[in-house]
Amino acid sequence: MQNSEKDYNYKEYLLILKECSPYDFSEYSDNSIDRRIKKIMRDQGLNMEELVLKTRTEPDFVEQVVEAITVNTTELFRDPDVWNHILKKVLPALKHQKKINIWHAGCSTGQEVYSLLILLDHLQILDRAEIYATDISKKALEQAKKGQYFYNFNAEKYRENFKASFEGETVPDFDSYFSADADKDLLKIRTDFSEKVQFIKHDLVKGDLPFYNKFDLIFCRNVLIYFQGSLQSKIVERFHENLFPGGTMILGSHESLGGFFKTKFSKNGPVYHRTNSFHFKY
Ligand SMILES: C[S@@+](CC[C@H](N)C(=O)[O-])C[C@H]1O[C@@H](n2cnc3c(N)ncnc32)[C@H](O)[C@@H]1O
Repeated sequence: MQNSEKDYNYKEYLLILKECSPYDFSEYSDNSIDRRIKKIMRDQGLNMEELVLKTRTEPDFVEQVVEAITVNTTELFRDPDVWNHILKKVLPALKHQKKINIWHAGCSTGQEVYSLLILLDHLQILDRAEIYATDISKKALEQAKKGQYFYNFNAEKYRENFKASFEGETVPDFDSYFSADADKDLLKIRTDFSEKVQFIKHDLVKGDLPFYNKFDLIFCRNVLIYFQGSLQSKIVERFHENLFPGGTMILGSHESLGGFFKTKFSKNGPVYHRTNSFHFKY
């Protein structure tokens, strides 16, 4: 351990961060937060005292800490079998609705959101969808709004996932949704798609929501995995409150509901439906 890290204890630091910023990571379960904060200290040559001082006095530095703590890994059509289920089972059930409300919580750089838009477009119901996408990371949201990604590294995987998500259907043309430029190493979603989504900075730890809508679909994939059980329960309860009865919640492939929530949702393949017979809408 370097001298600069000698007096540092990451749990203590998270309490200080909570006290002097809007962010509360004290119920995160991810032990690698420790490693990531240490990296900031090393990169900027800070000891604990200096880390705390910067945290108390520099809002921009606090945002850097948030970026360092959060994990933004994502991809287009991640886990294609889940998208195939959404295409064939979940979205067709919404086809008759005049309006379809969707929330992507923890949307990262937007690939998950654009995957859904492509499916909605394929089923010709995109014009009826109202789509909110939220994340705690300002930087991730800025990229999500642009809908612009590195092409060369991702190309093969993205095209493979895309094709697998349409398994059993006529596969649309990938290039009708994206402009791809290998020379510039750039993959960009159609502008009418990026303009369709309301990207909003929002912290799931906080109780308040940045919208009044109830939702038909709530995506929160590969986010709860970073939280302790107590925080996971609070957030799932909020999703339950904000879903229409019969509405669908989609978690990550390695996330599942336990205990109490098993009675509040019924599981259908990789997705959860809010159970309840009353359905007052609009
Ligand atoms: C691993 S990414 C998952 C992205 C996408 N949902 C997927 O499955 O591909 C986790 C995202 O959760 C966001 N996140 C972490 N804590 C959050 C919080 N308290 N409120 C909102 N978003 C949060 C991170 O910034 C990150 O973008």
